[in-house]
This record gives sequence, C-alpha cells and structure tokens, in this order.
Amino acid sequence: MSEIMIHRHTRLSIFMHWFNAFCWFALLLTGLGLIKNEELNPVGAWLPNLMRSLFGGGENLLMVHQYLGLVWAGIFLAYVLLRPRETWVFLKEVFTVSPASDMLWLAKMNLKMTLGRKGLQRFGLTPDLPPQGFYNFGQKVFAQASVVGGVVIVATGLTMFFSTIFMDNPEPAAWSRVIHYLTVGLVFAGLLVHIFMAAISREERPAFLSMFTGSVPEHYARHHHPLWFAQVSAEKEKDG
Ligand code: HEM
Repeated sequence: MSEIMIHRHTRLSIFMHWFNAFCWFALLLTGLGLIKNEELNPVGAWLPNLMRSLFGGGENLLMVHQYLGLVWAGIFLAYVLLRPRETWVFLKEVFTVSPASDMLWLAKMNLKMTLGRKGLQRFGLTPDLPPQGFYNFGQKVFAQASVVGGVVIVATGLTMFFSTIFMDNPEPAAWSRVIHYLTVGLVFAGLLVHIFMAAISREERPAFLSMFTGSVPEHYARHHHPLWFAQVSAEKEKDG
C-alpha cells in the first residue's frame, strides 16, 4: 500500500527557499572574491584572483555582488508585501519557542547524534525526544539566525552601497563592512549544520525531498513533528 503524504511546503515557499540558497552561494562567492586582503579572506588569494578574472576585474565583481544583493532583498521584500499572512505564520512558527522542552530536545539530540542511544542511557536519559511542531528547535534556531542575519546583511549592504553615492563620512560604511562580514560568517557556520542535517542526514531525507515535492510521508510527520502532525490530523477530522 502506498504511503499517505502530507502537504508541507507550497510551490512558492519552495521557490523562495531555493532562490534564497542560490543567492546565498552566489553572494558568498562574489563577496569572498572582493576580499583582496589574504589575512582576512578565509579561503586565501586564489578565489579573489579567480573571481576577478571571471568577471573582468574587481569593479565588475563589486557591481555583480551589489546588484545581486539588491535583487535578493527586493524579491524578499516583495514576498513580505504580497504575502503578509504567510510571512507572519512563518515568523510566528520560527520565533515561538518552549525553552524548557526545546533546550532538553537540543541537549538530547546532540547526545544522540554524538554518542548514540546507548550514550543517552549512560547519562540516565531516555531516547525519546520532546515532541516538536512544524520545525524542530534546531531548524528554528537556524531559521531565526537566517532571518535576523539576512536583515542585518541587507541593512549593512545598503549602507555601504549608498555611502559610495551620498555620504561623505566613511565611518558608517566602515562599521557596516565589519558587521556585514561577521554576520555572514555566523550565518554560514549555521548553514553548514543546516546543509548537513537537511541534505546528508538519512533521518531527515523525507524533509529534503519535501523541498522539491512539497509533501512528506505520514510516518515521518508523526515521528519527527508530532505536534504538527496532531494539528494536521485535527484539521482533517474537522473538515470531514
Ligand atoms: C544546499 C543548500 C541547502 C539545502 C540542501 C537546504 C535544505 C533545506 C530543507 C530540506 C529544508 C526543509 C526542512 C523541513 O521541511 O523540515 C530547508 C528549510 C529551510 N532552509 Fe534550507 N537548505 C539549503 C540552503 C539554505 C540557505 C542558504 C538558507 C539561508 C541562509 C536556508 C534557510 C532555510 C530556512 C530558513 C528554512 C525553513 C524555511 C522553509 O521551510 O523554507 N537554507 N532547507
């Protein structure tokens, strides 16, 4: 018998996610290409040299980075303005936490992934994790970082962009450059964990596939996101 599938992501949210991922990688590559200082560039001199030769010099590379950043921010702004309800539901979901059970979930999940079920028992803990909603606490933390980080990156990017046109004072652009660089670094650290959990971990494979198909198997929803599953089931029952 074929598995019952549960709707998880709309086509638009899937498009926004992959558009965001594409922009992140393109902005990361072009941004790192702009850092000529070898001591500051975590990947050394080869990437700036490669990117500059690909784009025909530093000025062109800066232009591509800036305009791609503007398109990225512009599309998200359009989404927020045209889909305020979906935006609100997403933000509410991501920023709502239950500190006691979520911290326990995080601690147990880390122990389970590093020491296995036996490791949990060694610490006197049961292998069951506190039930999670639409996103688990790990996904929420990364989503919070990417939303707040995204706003900081766009605000500092815009400050640098407009300071070259309108401002005589170089200080706001200098501060923005430092904050821009550090925020990208922090979100990127989370992104490595996000990609590992989403694309490499076998347990989360159904969620990965849902980022293309839009739905997950019922058993995955029941076991990984029981609070969300209960909500979906209650709505289904109400609708008859
Ligand atoms: C190769 C790169 C990436 C892969 C494989 C990936 C994978 C995924 C998957 C599978 C989900 C769905 C999780 C679920 O349904 O439970 C997801 C959600 C999410 N991802 Fe990614 N992701 C990538 C890049 C990024 C980037 C660059 C960002 C932002 C910096 C990002 C931010 C998010 C956020 C905020 C969510 C939750 C919102 C949503 O469902 O759209 N992801 N990702």
